[in-house]
Amino acid sequence: MSYAFEAEGLVKRFGTTTALAGIDLAARRGQVLGVLGPNGAGKTTAVRILATLLRPDGGRAAVAGMDVVRQAADVRRVIGLTGQYASVDEDLTGEENLVLIGELLDLRRREAKARAAELLRDFGLSEAGRRPAATYSGGMRRRLDLAAGLVGRPQIIYLDEPTTGLDPVKRDDMWNIVRRLVADGTTVLLTTQYLEEADALADEISVVDHGKVIAHGTPADLKHVVGGQTIIVRPSDPARLGEVTAILAELAGREPESPGRGVVTVPVEGDAVFTELVRRLDRAGIGVTELSLRLPSLDEVFFTLTGRTTTESDEEVAA
Ligand SMILES: Nc1ncnc2c1ncn2[C@@H]1O[C@H](COP(=O)(O)OP(=O)(O)OP(=O)(O)O)[C@@H](O)[C@H]1O
Ligand SMILES: [Mg+2]
Repeated sequence: MSYAFEAEGLVKRFGTTTALAGIDLAARRGQVLGVLGPNGAGKTTAVRILATLLRPDGGRAAVAGMDVVRQAADVRRVIGLTGQYASVDEDLTGEENLVLIGELLDLRRREAKARAAELLRDFGLSEAGRRPAATYSGGMRRRLDLAAGLVGRPQIIYLDEPTTGLDPVKRDDMWNIVRRLVADGTTVLLTTQYLEEADALADEISVVDHGKVIAHGTPADLKHVVGGQTIIVRPSDPARLGEVTAILAELAGREPESPGRGVVTVPVEGDAVFTELVRRLDRAGIGVTELSLRLPSLDEVFFTLTGRTTTESDEEVAA
């Protein structure tokens, strides 16, 4: 079978809350599946079922061809898991944590120490490895969590919102770590609230809402659905906003919007428009303090797919 993991119609209820309402998720070996969804969508619940930490109420899931309920112990041997539930002990040093996990995985002490040293080095934690984990910054802590999930060299790794709350530099570090794992042949399930992150890392993306997949495809498919990218321009001289708006309208072939004072935005299909825009602004002698091309936010994706904002979706879940 070519799927590294495959979940079909998973259902999970907590009391009156339906966390998963028949979700389907799958990734081929060596690929990254991005699971994109707002708070409460069911991402962590799905990951916990695939990690054998939670039993589904309905549906089925297999990892490396093994059933997550009937062959839970075998499944655990091929997966690595990081997230809120990662088992890092605050009182132990980074190194002690990794060695302990190695020993729990039946490595000899010497092997466990060698593996810990290797991971600490790969994750830029060699120095910090001698300090208690309690003293780590948020970014260091995330890296240690991820290293802890990799001690056993898993074929498949689940990363549950690995960059939420990290600053852009630390986020980039984390992205590079994920890319390295993938280059080594690891299959990754990545949950995230950022389309930009799923776009940067995932081969395919499943957008989830209320415990179900509401859209699935490659990042390119998804961006196409939600209308490509958005250009944002803020002229240095606010008096020239009208001219900028006219140029944008002509290039994008649709009416731009002004989400804030002195800024104008417009969705575009490809990035060719951007180059032309730079030329036109230059020719008109219009200086800018902001000029960017960005992907739609999760909010915009959501709005396009469901007609609701993520906040509205949250309130419904809470209600
Ligand atoms: N152990 C539990 N007991 C009761 N309700 C739960 C439990 N775990 C999850 N839920 C509920 O199930 C729904 C899905 O939660 P889940 O944690 O899977 O969402 P999520 O997509 O991971 O959200 P976030 O982005 O906030 O991490 C939510 O309504 C949540 O409150
Ligand atoms: Mg979660």
